[in-house]
Amino acid sequence: MSNAVVLFLFLITISHSHSGIVLPSQHLRDSLTSSSSSCPAPDPNLYYRPVIGILTHPGDGATGRLSNATDVSNIPASYVKFVEAAGARVIPLISTEQPEILLKKLELVNGVLFTGGWAKEGLYFENVKAIFKKALEKYDAGDYFPIYGICLGFELISMIVSEDNNILEAFGARNEASSLQFVENTNIEGSVFQRFPPDLLKKLSTDCLAMQNHRYGISPSKFLSNEKLSSFFGILTTCTDDNDKVYVSTVRARKYPVTGFQWHPEKNAFEWGSAKIPHSEDAIRVTQHIANFLVSEARKSLNRPVAREVLDNLIYNYKPTYGGKAGKGYDEVYLFE
Ligand SMILES: *[C@@H]1O[C@H](CO)[C@@H](O)[C@H](O)[C@H]1NC(C)=O
Repeated sequence: MSNAVVLFLFLITISHSHSGIVLPSQHLRDSLTSSSSSCPAPDPNLYYRPVIGILTHPGDGATGRLSNATDVSNIPASYVKFVEAAGARVIPLISTEQPEILLKKLELVNGVLFTGGWAKEGLYFENVKAIFKKALEKYDAGDYFPIYGICLGFELISMIVSEDNNILEAFGARNEASSLQFVENTNIEGSVFQRFPPDLLKKLSTDCLAMQNHRYGISPSKFLSNEKLSSFFGILTTCTDDNDKVYVSTVRARKYPVTGFQWHPEKNAFEWGSAKIPHSEDAIRVTQHIANFLVSEARKSLNRPVAREVLDNLIYNYKPTYGGKAGKGYDEVYLFE
C-alpha cells in the first residue's frame, strides 16, 4: 500500500471511532440551532449590549491648549475607557445642546455618568438637572437606570437633591491620593463595594488608593442635617482633607441606582498627568471594580434602543486628542464643537 492509502484508511478509522469529530461548518450550524450547548444561556433578564451616556463638560479640558472656542465641550478619555473596560459602549451627551435634545438621546442609553470638572451653572447645570430628573422618572416608571456622579458630578447632584446651590463647602484635597474610611455599621450590600474582594475592601481604608482632586465637598454633619440629602442618600465612606476636615466621599441613594464619588475611580488606570495618581495593581483593581458595578447596573436596564441610532451616536464617531504631553491635566480628551 502507498503511504497515501495508509493515511486515508487511518483517517477513516479515527473518524469512525471518534464520533465527536465534526467539521467546522457543523460547529457553526450546531451553535445556531442547538439548545443543548455547553455554554449556558445568558440571563434573559439582563442586557448585554449596554450603553452609557457621558455628559460633556464645558471647555477643552486643557485650559485653552487645545481649543478656545466658546461652544467647545469635552469628555476626558479616561471616563470613556473606564466604561469601555467594563463592557459597555459610550454615547456622548453634548452639553451645549438644549435639554430636549439630550433627553431624546437618553432613549439610546442604559445609564449616565457625570464627570469631574468645574462648571456649576448655565446650560451645563440645566442639562445635569434635566437628565438627573429624567433618570429618576425612568426608575420610577420601572426602568432600571443607573447614574454615577464623579467629583463635580456628585457635587452637582448634591446641589440638585438638596435644592440648595450653596450646599458645598471648601475643602483642601487638590491632587493627592487618600484612603476611604467606611462609615461605622454601614451596609455595603447592593452598593458599589459589595463585590470588592475582601482583601481590596480592607486596603481601601488603609492604603491611598483613591485619587482626590477637589476644592469643594460636603461635611458629614452638613450632609446629615440636610433632610432632603440625607433621606435621598446614605453615606458609605468619608475622607479627611489637608486640614483634617472630614468630607463625604462615597454615597449611594437609598431608593435609586445612583452612586456619588467625591474621588476619582477612573484616574488610577487611565490618567498619568499627575505623579500623585496611584497606579499600583491594587489601585487598578479599584478602577476596575468601580467600573464593573456601573456596567452591571446598566445591564439591568430594560431599554432596547434602535441599533442604527446607537451606532450613529457612539463615541466611536469621534477621535480623542492627546493633550497630556504638556505634562499636566488629562492625557486624552474628546472635544465636541
Ligand atoms: C487659547 O488662548 C490662549 C491665550 O490667549 C493661547 O495662549 C492659546 O494658544 C490659545 N489656544 C489655541 C488652541 O489657539
